[in-house]
Amino acid sequence: MNPNPSPEIPLLRGPVPLSHLLLRQFVHPGDRAVDATCGNGSDTLLLAELVGPTGRVWAFDIQSDAIGQTAQRLAQAGYAGQAECILAGHETMAERVTPGVSAVIFNLGYLPGGDRAIITHPETTLAAFEQALILLKPGGILVVTVYPGHEGGDHEGAVVDAWAAAHDPRAFHTWRMGQVNVPPSAPYLTLIQKVA
Ligand SMILES: C[S@@+](CC[C@H](N)C(=O)[O-])C[C@H]1O[C@@H](n2cnc3c(N)ncnc32)[C@H](O)[C@@H]1O
Repeated sequence: MNPNPSPEIPLLRGPVPLSHLLLRQFVHPGDRAVDATCGNGSDTLLLAELVGPTGRVWAFDIQSDAIGQTAQRLAQAGYAGQAECILAGHETMAERVTPGVSAVIFNLGYLPGGDRAIITHPETTLAAFEQALILLKPGGILVVTVYPGHEGGDHEGAVVDAWAAAHDPRAFHTWRMGQVNVPPSAPYLTLIQKVA
């Protein structure tokens, strides 16, 4: 079996490629968007490509290495003018981001290849989620990859699930999407769409 049938066909192994499909559907040239956990910068790069030179991306991380690497990748791709890298917690999002964003993406947990002790925490994650819902435009999406497999990740996943499930379906469409032929500790995607 050919593992990569065509570069145009995304392979849906885990939630990250699924989150990118969603971003491609919901983020357009001229839009504003947020990467709340930029890490190595992959999601920021995609958002910068999608919003184009007339749009704006805000990328947050609390690790200077992550911010440095993301800024470098943006510069190499020619996207530095449309994205701002912010060395600060995403729980400060409301102070820095202009309302009316099309998408906010989170990748919870630790930075792959980085310090595994530096993880996202439920208190700051939920504080940032609340701000993200206010910043989203009607129809905009909050996309979250949840990693229950590391220490503390199962608790954070349970907190995220309960928070997502508690929203009024007239105001928000909330989803949990996960591959079913993988262990229960595998990452999954939580999606919240703001109705109005
Ligand atoms: C799973 S990694 C992100 C991976 C990234 N999206 C990528 O494509 O490489 C999680 C990141 O969240 C960051 N982080 C942890 N707490 C944070 C906070 N309160 N605000 C912003 N970033 C945070 C970590 O430093 C880490 O880089």
